[in-house]
Amino acid sequence: MRKTSRLAFVMTTALAAVTLAACSGGTAGGADAGSDGGDVAPTTMKLALNQTQTHPSFIALEAFGERLTEATDGRWNIEVFPDSQLGDQAEYLQSVGDGVIDLAIVSAPQLENLNDDFVIFSLPTVFDSIEHQMSVLSDPAVVGDVYASLEDSNSITVVGGLTQGARSVYTKDGIAQTPEDLAGGKIRVQESPVFIGMINALGASPTPMAYSEVYTALQSGVIDGAENNEISYSTQKHYEVAPFYSYTRHLIGADFLISNTDTLASMSEEDRAAFDEAWTATWEHHTELWMADTEKAIADATAGGATFEEVDSDSFLDALTPLLKEFITTDSQQTLFDAIKATAE
Ligand code: GCU
Repeated sequence: MRKTSRLAFVMTTALAAVTLAACSGGTAGGADAGSDGGDVAPTTMKLALNQTQTHPSFIALEAFGERLTEATDGRWNIEVFPDSQLGDQAEYLQSVGDGVIDLAIVSAPQLENLNDDFVIFSLPTVFDSIEHQMSVLSDPAVVGDVYASLEDSNSITVVGGLTQGARSVYTKDGIAQTPEDLAGGKIRVQESPVFIGMINALGASPTPMAYSEVYTALQSGVIDGAENNEISYSTQKHYEVAPFYSYTRHLIGADFLISNTDTLASMSEEDRAAFDEAWTATWEHHTELWMADTEKAIADATAGGATFEEVDSDSFLDALTPLLKEFITTDSQQTLFDAIKATAE
């Protein structure tokens, strides 16, 4: 072999070895394959979140990153950006699809704007309890198709769900015992048809806006109230400007971890399995934190001047039940709804 062709041969072989190592990402040789085939640079995934650092989602997601780093020997890391630092949830869909951000937490209504099957997760009465909700959101037999449904169209994979707990209405001007007490009031909603429909059904006036804008909108009187769980109400300090929290418990909300589809596909089999395992531990951790933090949130908000009151929640549910008919309009929505209901006790 002449010198130049020998060099070319060596280089091609080396290149092939590196490519192979990158493709297999350590699967064949286990955790050490990276060091045999030249070190694979660690990847840090950006995770966008619109919650504060005291919210259980931030705490559980930070721990998610630590678990992943450990399980992949530092090949994959996660950096969580809380407090809407990377924008609002509606923007996360685009950024994750484009791969500008790898991961984000978005509320079900955001995904409803991409595939209306996601409407089902926000309907009143769909989940019996947080336990029922979490068993559904982690069951591939029920949610596998809908979680994969945005991969081709939007390059978004839904990895799994987190509970938002029960959502209730809170207002500036007094407890709402029945929907009549909200008549005509401007209530902030997430940007989605089903949430707009809900507030309309209660006889109030829905005002869609991003979560990060709600405090100022309440403070300035642009809106009269909003609806959310106790933890969001407390960590966002909305009680300072809307101190009346009425236990309407009109639905149990769902958040989803979304990922850029190509980022997940670029993981070795071994690292992807570690990612999935770390995620399971994360949502379980989050659900535990949720229960304990709800009590703390109520205590904090009460100390800050909030009033929490049981109200005629049946009157709210009666007004909202017709939404099931109105918003389940396709066969695939009906199939998903039935599958969820079939898992209830
Ligand atoms: C909850 C939920 C968020 C959502 C927010 C909202 O806090 O966990 O994902 O953005 O409600 O009402 O916008």
